[in-house]
Amino acid sequence: AEQKATNVHWHEHSVTPEERCQLSGHKGAVLWFTGLSGSGKSTVANTVDHKLHAAGKRTFVLDGDNVRMGLNKNLGFSAEDRAENIRRIGEVAKLFCEAGTITTTAFISPYVADRDAVRALLPEGQFIEILVDAPLETCEARDPKGLYKKARAGEIKGFTGIDDPYEAPEKPELVLDSDKKGIDELADEVIAYLEKSGILS
Ligand code: PPS
Repeated sequence: AEQKATNVHWHEHSVTPEERCQLSGHKGAVLWFTGLSGSGKSTVANTVDHKLHAAGKRTFVLDGDNVRMGLNKNLGFSAEDRAENIRRIGEVAKLFCEAGTITTTAFISPYVADRDAVRALLPEGQFIEILVDAPLETCEARDPKGLYKKARAGEIKGFTGIDDPYEAPEKPELVLDSDKKGIDELADEVIAYLEKSGILS
């Protein structure tokens, strides 16, 4: 976004991200879950968070409802508002990452450009894009909030997957098959990736 404020100056933090990570005993990272409504993003993200926390890691979760009811309560679901939603969440996630935290985010984030802009904010290797992959039919059959039913009935306009686009990532770090596998197994796949890629050491 355009820089509107003038006469603002960047402050160097005196404690470096590296020093914060030393204290945590692991690197900071943003685990960016993306997928359709009902794909299981929030459930997997929260399960990963619980498992990491139980293993003594510093973690945090940013997820749809709490962010859209607070920080982003002035935003709707137009392409512009979704872009601004993701931009702000990306900036917040970046701060958590600099604080040495492993942050999971669970937003549909339907546009490649918006997710790539967040990737560009973070150091190489610390933005981990995770596609929570389930066919629309599965998500629609689950319909945990009854929103697909409303979208099909025309009561919600611009619902992702129905009459609004979802652009799947082309090269995500991880793809989770949430159609065939259970939450626990998927969370373990994420943690195995973190071990392999050196985030946890
Ligand atoms: S986005 O696209 O990343 O900005 O969306 P997000 O912040 O993740 O919010 C998605 C949740 O909002 C509810 N909802 C909608 N989703 C998609 N399209 C429309 N039009 C819409 N209206 C409301 C829906 O419950 C999503 O919840 P999740 O957690 O994804 O199931």
